Amino acid sequence: MTILLSEIRTVATKPYPDQRPGTSGLRKKTKIFQQPHYLANFVQSIFAALEGFKGKTLVVGGDGRFFNREAIQIVIRMAAANGFGEILVGRGGILSTPAASAVIRAEQAFGGIVLSASHNPGGPEADFGIKYNISNGGPAPEKITEAIFAHSGTIQSYKIIEAPDVDLDRLGETRVGGAIVRIIDPVAVYLALMESLFDFPAIAQIFKDGFTLKFDAMSAVTGPYAKAIFEDALGAAKGSVINGEPLPDFGGHHPDPNLVHARHLLDLAMSDAAPDLCAASDGDGDRNLIIGRGQFVTPSDSLAIIAANAHLAPGYRSGIAGVARSMPTSRAADRVAEKLKIGMYETPTGWKFFGNLLDAGRVTICGEESAGAGSNHVREKDGLWAVLMWLNILAARKTGVKEIVRAHWAEFGRHYYSRHDYEEVASEGAEALIANLRAKLPGLPGQGFGALKVEAADDFAYTDPVDASVSEKQGIRVLFTEGSRIVYRLSGTGTAGATLRVYIERYEPDPAKHELETQEALADLIACAEKIAEISRYTGRDKPSVIT
Ligand code: G1P
Ligand code: ZN
Repeated sequence: MTILLSEIRTVATKPYPDQRPGTSGLRKKTKIFQQPHYLANFVQSIFAALEGFKGKTLVVGGDGRFFNREAIQIVIRMAAANGFGEILVGRGGILSTPAASAVIRAEQAFGGIVLSASHNPGGPEADFGIKYNISNGGPAPEKITEAIFAHSGTIQSYKIIEAPDVDLDRLGETRVGGAIVRIIDPVAVYLALMESLFDFPAIAQIFKDGFTLKFDAMSAVTGPYAKAIFEDALGAAKGSVINGEPLPDFGGHHPDPNLVHARHLLDLAMSDAAPDLCAASDGDGDRNLIIGRGQFVTPSDSLAIIAANAHLAPGYRSGIAGVARSMPTSRAADRVAEKLKIGMYETPTGWKFFGNLLDAGRVTICGEESAGAGSNHVREKDGLWAVLMWLNILAARKTGVKEIVRAHWAEFGRHYYSRHDYEEVASEGAEALIANLRAKLPGLPGQGFGALKVEAADDFAYTDPVDASVSEKQGIRVLFTEGSRIVYRLSGTGTAGATLRVYIERYEPDPAKHELETQEALADLIACAEKIAEISRYTGRDKPSVIT
């Protein structure tokens, strides 16, 4: 074992006022994180919010973006100085978010720190982020994130060990102060978990029979995982994984697997050369994109279809306990839960709200409209898990993605669904828009907008059924009499200005009307969304910047 000579130092610092974690950790421009003591302040604030970790294990990894390695060295030295006994770090500083969750659980660690700004671009001019996960492997609940923020506002000093950098690229152990730093294979634990959940032999067989896959790792963290799983373990043709090397700037791209940033996959899937399945994941590996030959699957539909078919995968053979979705996610999954006579939970946006439901065994499958799906195998959403689930379903049903989607709509009805984002608008305007909506709420029920009539409208509040904690102001909902819905909320992950998200949903039970183009099917609701919220007046924009 290498022993690095070391000495604990207490460094004086001053608070930064802007360290409140958002929907998923603290996310800022990289330059902000590179300010003197900025990252260290936040890391010390995390440790200050925790109790009882002396001598315990901390898992550390990131998505490989610019500043990842430097940040990991700081976290290692501070964790050792603060009394952690063991620090597990993914080789090269790499751990996808779901893999970090899996390692925390498998190693019964006290918690973990993931360096990532998820699907936001990386690089010196782009974004960086850090989040803390608790011992169940899931994102820290609000109680902890608020305590971190409170401490960051009063911090006067932090503890760090003065020691040379740990070699992140060599598996093995190094002693840093009183702690052992263990560099681990970032893929092994995760791969074993996937093998325990899915029918690898059946999936390998469809690849042998000529099934074709194109998985775009978007030059982000999932490359090494995807190659090990799809190409090495399952026998998909070499080259099935593209952009498989994690790069500090993600090759200059926006590693968000949606129809804008992964447009080329949609084009491929709609072309004559379409493989059976096109898929992608984001910067830190927790999101997924699923497109069959000639068929994009919306994340909301994917959640519903996974819930209806999960029993086909060995890890879920005995059925699922319940389903949870974030409030803005379409209600397609609700219909499946109703049919299966299992629990259905509607939570605020953000994976952290699923943790209690999963821990209590109330739900097995969770999902969000923002390309997130996952299960009780970890406490994060999981991009490669979703792709494997689809592969398992395709192998078991011996049919194509398009056929499965159409059959699902025929059985349950179709939820036309779209999200319109107004990115980087002025914060004052966005906040005024929401304030105006709130003021309008009591007067909305009963109002008509063309053929649409408002049935109910509220500002979503959630009481956690497990610990009774209450989260208020989680999005404005306008529900119409025939089952349509518009939801408005401001993003909690942006790093510049404000982002207004408008979620639009219409339910169509009649299979004869399932072939409309989504934006056309939603046209009257889209017009109504503008009328109710006066989006152009408050944001100065006459159309959204991103439509998904
Ligand atoms: C967005 C998504 C949300 C997801 C989060 C983290 O948050 O909308 O569903 O959990 O990213 O990936 P938002 O920016 O809307 O607060
Ligand atoms: Zn992510």
